[in-house]
Amino acid sequence: MTAAVTLNTLRQLKAQGQKFACLTAYDASFSHAISQAGIEVILVGDSLGMVIQGHDSTLPVTLDDMVYHTRCVARGNQGSLLMADLPFMTYGDESAALTSAAALMRAGAHMVKLEGGQWLAPTVTSLRRNGVPCCLHMGLTPQSVHVFGGYKVQGRQEAAAQQLLEDALILEQAGADLILLECVPRQLAESLTKAAQVPVIGIGAGASTDGQVLVLQDMLGLHHGKVARFVKNFLKGQDSIEAALRAYREAVRLGHFPALEHGFE
Ligand code: KIV
Repeated sequence: MTAAVTLNTLRQLKAQGQKFACLTAYDASFSHAISQAGIEVILVGDSLGMVIQGHDSTLPVTLDDMVYHTRCVARGNQGSLLMADLPFMTYGDESAALTSAAALMRAGAHMVKLEGGQWLAPTVTSLRRNGVPCCLHMGLTPQSVHVFGGYKVQGRQEAAAQQLLEDALILEQAGADLILLECVPRQLAESLTKAAQVPVIGIGAGASTDGQVLVLQDMLGLHHGKVARFVKNFLKGQDSIEAALRAYREAVRLGHFPALEHGFE
């Protein structure tokens, strides 16, 4: 990668209608390979609770876990924008959010991601004021899996879709820098991406979002259990992990991934 990717880079890409890619990483080796492949954003996701720690949800992940993995990823990173998840129950009020975000930023994150809707607006404003850019994870927010009663597509009913759109715009007004949409109908993702000034990253949200994200292990074909519909194995047909990472980057850039079959109506 030539110059380091910043939020300005992502805003410019959105303005130019160019797609960008994001992948999760949890260690220095993969962080190095992902950034060398030109993937714009690395997410130290709390999905590490599942793919690294073997839990069946992200709920057991602690702030210390996130700090440890963020440090590892930051050491390997060669210029991607590094985003780290605020884990479950570490941002319930503004003061907790500031303390938790400070730990991730000190560990090397460039921004934090938090899950929720418009009730997070004051927290986002407060984080931003204190120098912490924010990505808002909306739609299927895995930390609320027990509220949803499982990992289910969100925003299918008209009222829920309208609520999600309204929440996104309120969060943008509050200072959100990015929005990440997980498992929503592609029509909703398309409307939200058009309505939002900030770049929108999708997973299971169709091809219209400004960027795409996948969990590293998923795109390398390493699964235990059910494979989600939005996953594609990019190692298939490639002779190395580096080639798979570049294939993912190119497929996103060219709009070849995700295909219709990876999304929801
Ligand atoms: O934790 C994570 O890896 C995520 C992605 C699924 C977007 O939030």
